[in-house]
Amino acid sequence: MDWKSLGSALFFPIQMVYFLLKAAVCLFFPSRLRDMSGDVVLITGGGRGIGRHLAREFAKQGAKKLILWGRTEKCLKETCEEIKLMGTECHYFLCDVGNREEVYQQAKVVRERVGDVTILVNNAAVVHGKSLMDSDDDALLKSQHINTLGQFWTTKAFLPRMLELQNGHVVCINSVLSQSSIPGAIDYCTSKASSFAFMESLTLGLLDCPGVGTTTVLPFHTNTEMFQGMRVRFPNLFPPLKPETVARRTVEAVQKNTALLYLPWTMHALVILKSFMPQQALEEIHKFSGSYTCMNTFKGRT
Ligand SMILES: NC(=O)c1ccc[n+]([C@@H]2O[C@H](COP(=O)([O-])OP(=O)(O)OC[C@H]3O[C@@H](n4cnc5c(N)ncnc54)[C@H](OP(=O)(O)O)[C@@H]3O)[C@@H](O)[C@H]2O)c1
Repeated sequence: MDWKSLGSALFFPIQMVYFLLKAAVCLFFPSRLRDMSGDVVLITGGGRGIGRHLAREFAKQGAKKLILWGRTEKCLKETCEEIKLMGTECHYFLCDVGNREEVYQQAKVVRERVGDVTILVNNAAVVHGKSLMDSDDDALLKSQHINTLGQFWTTKAFLPRMLELQNGHVVCINSVLSQSSIPGAIDYCTSKASSFAFMESLTLGLLDCPGVGTTTVLPFHTNTEMFQGMRVRFPNLFPPLKPETVARRTVEAVQKNTALLYLPWTMHALVILKSFMPQQALEEIHKFSGSYTCMNTFKGRT
């Protein structure tokens, strides 16, 4: 080992302690927030659910322009009008993120008509809500195209300009189900796990790119139409999150340049438990908490 490598090996534990202490201090002292007055924010699935609340929150925090993408014009238009009434410029475009050509085409339209996107929020997703054997092949493919591959196309469309400008942020609204799957939503859990890996790899790949960051949000069950009918065993102990809370915490994480956000923070316990508990114990936890059967009553978007 040469002197340089020996030096970095000795310095490494000091660096680790420094970063841990820094993170602990940041919990108590507010860090500098991103000024969003120059930001152009594009939200996929921005017409309803968490996406609509994200649009409200970005507007509230002073974003310059908002762009909403989705497939249903009615809700996109409603949200867009609401944002304009808040005093923020807002545009909407019909775009199916599962369709690569459409994403590239609409990204071009956005650049020409609105300008360079500096914050991309990959929020659009669907859940089929069936077991593998009960799902038809096209439905299984659709979830992967929208929830996972959609992010490949949107990120490829907007990231290059963020890198040129040295100003940008890519956000992924993921799910705790990417870390701990449940039966009856095999399409969704698979797509979210692979989307988590996508964001992890993207984040590390951007380490040497100044001014460009990422945020991955992993919310627990949230009160929107997506998981309608799903029942957990102890709803008072594990109440669903409010979509406005998810939106507020997401925008705050972007402003603080936080890479990973579990909502609620107690979800960290899930990941820790999974790393050392024996399989039989984990199975009992699933049965006891009701996550084993929670999709039996699932209706989803009717
Ligand atoms: N609800 C929960 O319990 C929960 C928990 C954790 C994480 N999440 C995540 O939070 C995000 C938002 O979910 P939500 O609860 O707000 O669900 P939601 O109410 O069903 O909204 C989903 C949004 O995605 C859009 N979308 C779906 N397919 C699309 C496509 N092919 N192209 C463009 N847009 C599309 C929908 O608009 P159109 O149908 O008009 O296209 C809608 O605006 C998702 O990523 C979800 O996985 C949700």
